[in-house]
Amino acid sequence: MSDTLSPEIRFGSNSGQPATRRDGLAKVTGVATFAADNTPEGLLHAVYAPAKIARGRVSHLDVAAAEAHPGVTHVITPQNRPELQGDPSGKPTMFSFRTEVLQDDTVRYAGQPIALVLGETLEAATEGARLLAPQYEVDPVRVALDDNTARGFDPGGFGLPGGASHGDVEAGHAVAARSIDVSYETAAQYHNAMETHAIVAQWDGDRLMLDMPSQALKVSCAGFAYFFGIPPENVTLRSPYIGGGFGSKAIPTGPQVLAILAARMTQRPVKLMFTRQQMFGPAGHRGATRQRLRLGVDENAALTVIDHEGLAETSTFDDFVEPAANASHDLYAAGALRASHRLVRLDVGTPGPMRAPGEASGSAALECAMDEMAEAAGMDPLEFRLHNYAETQPGTGRPYSSKALRECYAEGAARFGWEGRPLEPRQMRDADGLMTGWGMGTALFPCPMFAAEARATLRPDGTALFETSAVDMGQGAWTVLAQIAADSLGLTLDQVEFRAGHSALPDGGVAGGSAHTATAGGALHAAGGDVLRQLGELATADPQSPLYGAGNSSLVARHGWLLLEEDESRRERFADILARAGKTEMIGTGHGGRAPEAAGRHAMNSHGAVFAEVKVDPDLRQVRVTRLVGAFAAGRIINPRLTESQLMGGMIWGTSFALHEAARHDRRSGRIVNADFAGYHVPVNADVSGLEVITVHEDDPYVNALGIKGVGEIGIVGTVGAIGNAIWHATGKRVRHFPIRIADLL
Ligand code: MOS
Repeated sequence: MSDTLSPEIRFGSNSGQPATRRDGLAKVTGVATFAADNTPEGLLHAVYAPAKIARGRVSHLDVAAAEAHPGVTHVITPQNRPELQGDPSGKPTMFSFRTEVLQDDTVRYAGQPIALVLGETLEAATEGARLLAPQYEVDPVRVALDDNTARGFDPGGFGLPGGASHGDVEAGHAVAARSIDVSYETAAQYHNAMETHAIVAQWDGDRLMLDMPSQALKVSCAGFAYFFGIPPENVTLRSPYIGGGFGSKAIPTGPQVLAILAARMTQRPVKLMFTRQQMFGPAGHRGATRQRLRLGVDENAALTVIDHEGLAETSTFDDFVEPAANASHDLYAAGALRASHRLVRLDVGTPGPMRAPGEASGSAALECAMDEMAEAAGMDPLEFRLHNYAETQPGTGRPYSSKALRECYAEGAARFGWEGRPLEPRQMRDADGLMTGWGMGTALFPCPMFAAEARATLRPDGTALFETSAVDMGQGAWTVLAQIAADSLGLTLDQVEFRAGHSALPDGGVAGGSAHTATAGGALHAAGGDVLRQLGELATADPQSPLYGAGNSSLVARHGWLLLEEDESRRERFADILARAGKTEMIGTGHGGRAPEAAGRHAMNSHGAVFAEVKVDPDLRQVRVTRLVGAFAAGRIINPRLTESQLMGGMIWGTSFALHEAARHDRRSGRIVNADFAGYHVPVNADVSGLEVITVHEDDPYVNALGIKGVGEIGIVGTVGAIGNAIWHATGKRVRHFPIRIADLL
């Protein structure tokens, strides 16, 4: 008789293979349809006018001039904006921010939407928005952390989780034989995915169809449904291709709400796409931080205390913490820890999650401070970190579910050639006389899990369809998820059809927190397992099956067969099992997430170590990152090609953080002066050379059913500090803010 256990799922031929992106060809040939590529019949174009001041009110808009434009059909301002059913200051979902939707004439930040113009063409709407020629009553602005003299307030837990402590911090300071007290600053950064935020909205009665890039389809549907007083299931969201997200596409923005409103008002489809400049406004950003780090060590260079205070900016109308001090929670075995956050209100848009929120900015400061502490202790920076290695989670003593950080240090250092690095700075020159420095940093990223659902349908020919609303931001998620799906039924990739990116499918959860592969993958894996369980029950109970009488748990699936593991001659094709049972298909469902009991017992993180070489021109002080070696341990690696690509992308962003990216405000107007790619610098190919990624083997039986951690964000984490430390090693200058520019090194 069959038992209730499922046949065992083995990671088959697909897992571990460097499959290329399933959507790659469509993208490089231009066949892939991004949201703004949709042009339904009768389309109106929407363009919003952004505020040119950062604080005050709009005193006049020349609506008549805009309306007089022959291509302009409507101008929506706070005076005539149709009602929204949901209060814009409400928070209907976990990813809801107070949204600027023309509820009044107040300006709270530069770039805030102050009117929406609709036109028959994009050009007409753009010209109409320009003709509004807004006039303002201007109030003095506060755009830098020092501009608001209030000392900051306790964010009280809103936004991302923040704050932790253990041990006696004051005693840790008191007993330290050596200490440092340093402040680091990180600049505001704006998400600038290749594809800017866009939406095409169409109403059919009280049903809403949206084409929109989204990192969280069901959550976005719920967010929009709230504004329009309709059930979430009335919203259909299609998001087949996404040109990057980085956290900002998890959160519906005000202009997108306005576009939907315009579509309802006009009863025509409406398209809105942010310009590049508009990406520096209502779509979130990484808030600037100032972080004070006080570290102490005893006579033996053991950390007695990590005291990490984060100060971060938020807007005047909502709270979001860039939780930088979180970076100190789990990394080093200090006798005492205090990690805290305070917020300062500025006349800026509300910050939001941006790739490795907290860890990126926080580790930049922590890893440089660790370098300073190692220097003060007269110790090699890597040796110092190993000396303070956390064998169990600091504060709780919980074991790590897995932690191959020691191996990351060893393999990364060996590949880089760290040994023999002079302790003192300014010791190395290359053949061209360039000042050369080596630095390193540790990377850590937690392993959150969201919930997800998936459905597997086995077809009469033995192939299968897998469905989940999972999203692919461009990193190859659908390829990896299809690999997991195929393996769950023992099929090859081409025997599996994979459908995703549509809100009508089972909820694939959130592409965020580096958790998507584990979460949606877990659901797919479970859905395949559900099919196998049902197949096994049919076969083992059927006297005509070669598997009759076998225990279900002793079966495995391979190449479209269900077979008995200890006697492979006893086997039967999926298709035959279905046919004999008179079934045309078999449907399985599955959920992804973490077993609650697993969460409490272990601390769970991905880890890594990044080693950087920089060369600095002795006269011009131009910095080049000439080599970056990152070694990462992130549990099971499903697709090494895409994993390497993700980690490289993170390390390139780390380079960007260290040397390039910063939104700069004009202190009088409050406007960002470099709100485009001419002034907001990100690395180009010439800025990136010698990039090398190592993935360190790691088995994790606890983190989730698949043993997958995450690789989407951790690459950025160790890299920033490694580069800052290498610059010190080359030049002897400790620059305590990012990005580090030539002027800082003169
Ligand atoms: Mo991310 S900042 O979890 O998309």
